[in-house]
Amino acid sequence: MNYMTICDEKVLQRNGMPIFYVVGLVVLVLVLVSLVWRLSSQKWQIPFPAWLSWLFLDNPLIEIIIRTQATIDRIGLRSGEQGLDVGCGAGRLSIPAAKKVGPTGKIVALDIQPKMLNQLQKKIGKTGLSNIVTQLGDITSDDITSSDNLQLGSFDRVWLVTVLGEIPNQQKALQNLYRLLKPGGTLSVTEIFGDPHYQARSVVLRLGHKTGFEPSHYLGNFLSFTQNFIKPE
Ligand SMILES: C[S@@+](CC[C@H](N)C(=O)[O-])C[C@H]1O[C@@H](n2cnc3c(N)ncnc32)[C@H](O)[C@@H]1O
Repeated sequence: MNYMTICDEKVLQRNGMPIFYVVGLVVLVLVLVSLVWRLSSQKWQIPFPAWLSWLFLDNPLIEIIIRTQATIDRIGLRSGEQGLDVGCGAGRLSIPAAKKVGPTGKIVALDIQPKMLNQLQKKIGKTGLSNIVTQLGDITSDDITSSDNLQLGSFDRVWLVTVLGEIPNQQKALQNLYRLLKPGGTLSVTEIFGDPHYQARSVVLRLGHKTGFEPSHYLGNFLSFTQNFIKPE
């Protein structure tokens, strides 16, 4: 063993190990925060912070994993349809969805946080799309249909993309979505592994079945899946 190698080892012992511990500690803290957030969300509404959307929802690097266009294809939107993006966030899916349904269709983008809708409004302004409206509200609310944008039996497709686990009363959310859909309409639920609120397919299927939906397509795999349901005619 030469002099350089001995020196390198000493430097590692002095400097390398603390860095290793710091990285380990950061990872541990992130895992713990995610766990606490996940468990708390079963009881309280703690939505994804709007100030973090640039890092996760609008980040081109994360896009490689969350694949917006693939999700839009799995939802199955067609030209002229009425769609409801539930928990739209900063509009990652709402904008491409509005382009997909075209000028004869319409997208309602619903979120519980005004700050998310503000971010989406800015994007709508830049694209010049006129077939998309934002709606502030909680999908579990008793008077969900009190808004003109959310009429009973008016939607062809409604979707929840990495939203379900953030909603404490998931059954109520699905019941409201059932009411908002036209007979024969589609509910689409997408979950992505790594999201602190990830819901297993079995949970999604159980909720859908309990609400009266019929499972239709399952697309993807457990790392990133979309489970579609039909509201019976
Ligand atoms: C992780 S973000 C996902 C945003 C978007 N679907 C996407 O994939 O880019 C979850 C969003 O759901 C919204 N949300 C959570 N609970 C909600 C509720 N009960 N009603 C409406 N929106 C809700 C949050 O405010 C947040 O913007």
